[in-house]
Amino acid sequence: MNAKTFVEGLKEELQGLLAKLKSNETLVAESSGRLEVKSLLKIALKNEMEATLVGARWVENTPEIFCKLAFARQVGDESRHYRLIEARLQELGENLDDYDPLKPALSPLTEYLLGLQGTIEKAVAGPFARESIAVVKNNQFISFLKEKGDLGTAKIYEETIQKDEAFHHQLGEDLLLRLVRTDEDQRRASAAVEKTLGLAEELTRLAAEKKGIVRAPGC
Ligand SMILES: [Fe+2]
Ligand SMILES: [Fe+2]
Repeated sequence: MNAKTFVEGLKEELQGLLAKLKSNETLVAESSGRLEVKSLLKIALKNEMEATLVGARWVENTPEIFCKLAFARQVGDESRHYRLIEARLQELGENLDDYDPLKPALSPLTEYLLGLQGTIEKAVAGPFARESIAVVKNNQFISFLKEKGDLGTAKIYEETIQKDEAFHHQLGEDLLLRLVRTDEDQRRASAAVEKTLGLAEELTRLAAEKKGIVRAPGC
């Protein structure tokens, strides 16, 4: 199978797994949850900072220049998202002086991403899979914001953040088209999609069950 056919198949596989994530989120959303815009935006800050850290690590420890450049682009965008969300929180009256988005711990998904060594695994788990999860989650978050009447925050997501996250997913697809060459490469890429979605699903479930957090934005 050539790289193009393989990546098309991988996108379908990813969409199938995302559909499962979407329906789980809807179920949990219907069963209540602590839905405060400001607390969800603080989770967004954490996501953006963790995405920045992961990208920065990969710029440094990935040998291929075209991949370094893609990850660097992502670092720039995610840190810009951090600033936008921070400014919005301040506008909403939140004091962030003592807020450290990396405390008390990094999420298990971020730990997994930081530990990846293979470029194929990074391209799949980071831009390709994590960013499509972000697009799904942000769409749910945008609907939630509109229900709550917070059009200012919805605008930031619709006009800037969501466009960037969709672009990051596309970056992942472009990297894969250049990276995947052999059957073994294809096997590694499929395994990384499943692993990432599994971790994301687990995190979503735990956040909902333990903290009542649903429809949190992604990154
Ligand atoms: Fe992103
Ligand atoms: Fe982001």
